[in-house]
Amino acid sequence: MSETLLEVKDLRVAYGRIEALHGVSFSVNQGEIVTLIGANGAGKTTTLTSIARLPPPEAPKVASGDILYRGESILGVPPHDVVSKLNVALVPEGRHIFGNLTVEENLTLAAYPRRKAPASEAEAAFKTVYDLFPRLAERRRQRSEQLSGGEQQMLAVGRALMSNCQFIMLDEPSMGLSPLLMQLVFKTLRQLNEEQGMTILLVEQNANMALRLAHRGYVLDTGEIIAEGSADELMDDPEVKKAYLGG
Ligand SMILES: Nc1ncnc2c1ncn2[C@@H]1O[C@H](COP(=O)(O)OP(=O)(O)O)[C@@H](O)[C@H]1O
Ligand SMILES: [Mg+2]
Repeated sequence: MSETLLEVKDLRVAYGRIEALHGVSFSVNQGEIVTLIGANGAGKTTTLTSIARLPPPEAPKVASGDILYRGESILGVPPHDVVSKLNVALVPEGRHIFGNLTVEENLTLAAYPRRKAPASEAEAAFKTVYDLFPRLAERRRQRSEQLSGGEQQMLAVGRALMSNCQFIMLDEPSMGLSPLLMQLVFKTLRQLNEEQGMTILLVEQNANMALRLAHRGYVLDTGEIIAEGSADELMDDPEVKKAYLGG
């Protein structure tokens, strides 16, 4: 059995008086790709921002429950430490890259958590990103706002990789991408998992794509987990099929 990397236990979180997650529990093992699928408003982003410990006002408040990373509660960990000490990276919804900076400048900024490491480490990180996404290498001097949607998503994933993360969380990476670019981004995620042992938590409305990539999955519906299992089990589940896979 591989080690449990992330364990979310009976998590309740609220925006003000409105509770968005009503006791959510799930886990991610080292080396796994786990997906959390659910419709718009189900609580997917809330789950990820809670784990990343984003500061208010973005993050909702944890009312009860716990988030364990490598067996220890991270509820008291400040967000910058989640990245630089725990090596967890979040690729947020809507990408959040700096449009007026070049591709390379965006990647350089993202390497900030390793600023005290030898320069060779950052160079190796650049090489990893440019090998995975040759398009980014070709466009390294171009302003990011001039990239296509798919290239911007590659850059968002690339930024996460620059931080030396071992666990990457992605919030709807397929959003706004053409089917072809979507496939390219998902193929890269599989490559990262298989070749570098990267652990991945993938949040998606596109359940078809997500379940084809993931080993296991959970279905989130209005703040509650209503189904879980291997990706194959979920794809064969009549309820999941009906509600999330287009029949
Ligand atoms: N900043 C916020 N303030 C108040 N309610 C919010 C906020 N962000 C999200 N919510 C509510 O929390 C619930 C879950 O939203 P969210 O986590 O964004 O869902 P998803 O990412 O699955 O679409 C929704 O009912 C949404 O309206
Ligand atoms: Mg969302």
